[in-house]
Amino acid sequence: MTRRLRTAILISGRGSNMTVLIEAARSPSFPAEIVLVAANRPDAGGLARAAAAGLPTVCVDHKAFGGREAFEQALQAELERHRVGLVCLAGFMRVLTPWFIERWPGRLLNIHPSLLPSFRGLHTHERALAEGVRLHGATVHFVVPELDAGPIVAQGAVPVLEGDTPDTLAARVLTVEHVLYPQALALVASGSAMLANGRVALTQAQAADAPGMLLNPPGP
Ligand code: GAR
Repeated sequence: MTRRLRTAILISGRGSNMTVLIEAARSPSFPAEIVLVAANRPDAGGLARAAAAGLPTVCVDHKAFGGREAFEQALQAELERHRVGLVCLAGFMRVLTPWFIERWPGRLLNIHPSLLPSFRGLHTHERALAEGVRLHGATVHFVVPELDAGPIVAQGAVPVLEGDTPDTLAARVLTVEHVLYPQALALVASGSAMLANGRVALTQAQAADAPGMLLNPPGP
């Protein structure tokens, strides 16, 4: 069997994206193996879900540290202790400093609830509704020091419907996130998509398949 990339998932909350990544990685043919779930908040609901799935978990509580660097050094130490090769941010709501990000070139993924570069930052669904966009969605990208600005691996789009509220729109986007993130992780962990000169390069076989685009998402 080919070697599977040792992957950590970082969360701050309920961890529904974490859960679908764990599910996908249960298959022995999936190119990533989840070896650690880490949270920066002790009350992150996803910690219990990960433990129930039989995975090692750790809480590196950012409040227990004097500053961002000390927190990130502790997080980095956990990742090294578990010999992690790839990190997936999944609802991880702490901005990471260049010190941390530069330790994971081409090895740090995030999922963001908008079609980047639209709506970087917070409250993406409220802002999409306020702008009156007709399409919204989610993006998996490599993390760079500029917030939500890294090279894009995969995107999934959903319609914005008449009468949508931030909650109904968030729920529709989340269904896409749950399909998109495992696909994007597989692309990166298998080496089919990689960071090269600040862009995402696809292997020739993958480029012919046009991966990383998710339209007509599954229904609710
Ligand atoms: C997801 O919608 C994710 O895209 C978003 O937080 C939610 C986490 O849900 N991430 C961000 O906003 C990152 N800035 P989950 O804990 O159920 O996966």
